[in-house]
Amino acid sequence: MSHPTYHNLIGGQWLPAASGKTILNLNPADHADVVGAFPSSHGEDVALAVDAAKKAFAKWRLIPAPKRAEILVRSGLLLKERKEKYAREMTREMGKVLTETRGDVQEAIDEAFYVAGEGRRLFGQTTPSELQNKFAMSVRMPLGVVGLITPWNFPMAIPSWKLFPALVSGNTCVVKPATDTPLSTYNLVQSLVDAGLPPGVVNIVAGSGSAVGTALVEHPDVRAISFTGSSAVGSLVAQRAAVAFKPVSLEMGGKNAQIVMDDANLELALDGALWGAFGTTGQRCTATSRILLQKGIAQKFTVEFVARAKELKVGNGLDESVEVGPQVNPSQIETSTRYVEIALAEGAKLLTGGHVLTEGSYAHGTYFEPTVLGGVTPGMRIAREEVFGPVVSLIEFASFEEAIEIANSIDYGLSTALYTKDVNRAFTAIRDLESGITYINAPTIGAEVHLPFGGVKHTGNGHREGNGAIDFFTTWKAVYVDYSNKLQRAQIDNAE
Ligand code: UN1
Repeated sequence: MSHPTYHNLIGGQWLPAASGKTILNLNPADHADVVGAFPSSHGEDVALAVDAAKKAFAKWRLIPAPKRAEILVRSGLLLKERKEKYAREMTREMGKVLTETRGDVQEAIDEAFYVAGEGRRLFGQTTPSELQNKFAMSVRMPLGVVGLITPWNFPMAIPSWKLFPALVSGNTCVVKPATDTPLSTYNLVQSLVDAGLPPGVVNIVAGSGSAVGTALVEHPDVRAISFTGSSAVGSLVAQRAAVAFKPVSLEMGGKNAQIVMDDANLELALDGALWGAFGTTGQRCTATSRILLQKGIAQKFTVEFVARAKELKVGNGLDESVEVGPQVNPSQIETSTRYVEIALAEGAKLLTGGHVLTEGSYAHGTYFEPTVLGGVTPGMRIAREEVFGPVVSLIEFASFEEAIEIANSIDYGLSTALYTKDVNRAFTAIRDLESGITYINAPTIGAEVHLPFGGVKHTGNGHREGNGAIDFFTTWKAVYVDYSNKLQRAQIDNAE
């Protein structure tokens, strides 16, 4: 079967990789279905793209931000028109079910409209000077060429979290889409091109992380890197960038807990846990991977939860009746398999699932059963390390204080959910949970674009996406205007 071939976007032109090589983008629901061939790029392609972005920056930075924002609005409107097509293409390349890929495109639409509004804000400060007849203020300035390295699990939403704020702030961009899911990032960029984005303002260089990502991080003209991916790769990105004092925004792993207290609305907690653990086949950095159960409800919850997990329909995400799609690639199902083995060796009990699905149509894709592990204790590796698959651990606790302690006892700190009717406990948890996002009576997934997105400890390095992204993609300039017509020396002429 023939498939389309895609090129890099460099300076407004679609060009093959200098290597002439391509990487096939396969449908994880059926590996015989080739979505397309994408460039296998290297440092020389990155160099061309950075050069194009650098040239484009000279003009783009001078376009007033409200005008730059209008392109975002048009891009958002085009995404709206193309939502169904882009969602279907995303399911085909990434695997998650259609309702979720529609949500992924919607998240990019929301981001376009939200960030477009920033074009008329981008606030700085005005403040009194300590001297007479002197005006003091600060303004936001773009950084220049920025490198964006994006993941496969939200292949349109997460690139939009980076691209739109970078653009409205006046930067030009080189994007490296995830090797497994480049098409959705292409589709996002196509909406910008069709919206009238000038050539060179956004460039795409597709290829592997080791070839393209490394070259981007190390290129001297790339002023900042925004990365979403694993903590292991994020650490390498940060170390490489540090050599040139390059700012890096890192958005990485999670081991998110949903805490269920005895007084919780159990139906609500079950719905939340099922969606949090198995939505996106567990492949979200915000996925629920630990369910902490207070002893009074633990047994009832476990029986119900396992029954519901067993009923989930696994299959091709393009089938509207399917609830859980495949994992994105063979290496992800190997990781899920390995972690189930580790958990069982540590003494956990397999309550349901635990295996790669290989029968019938499953044989053509990378499917893993929705998996629930019981009898997990906080010290086990399965309770501490990220799996990024449909594998969730049940951990019992006695008191609220113990639940907070267990929730906080890991290296990650992205998203935590608490189910309770006790308002005092809810606010205590909001105060005490070490995580960038905290939900009360809602699952660990479901962040909205206009709030800060990110986490603490090994989840991030202090930056935030969402309403924190403009802070990353701009730098402050302090401006003093002296209209006294004489030399005024701060800290000296006005001293007593
Ligand atoms: C991710 O988990 O990788 O909050 C991103 C959510 C989505 C974004 C998730 N809006 O679940």
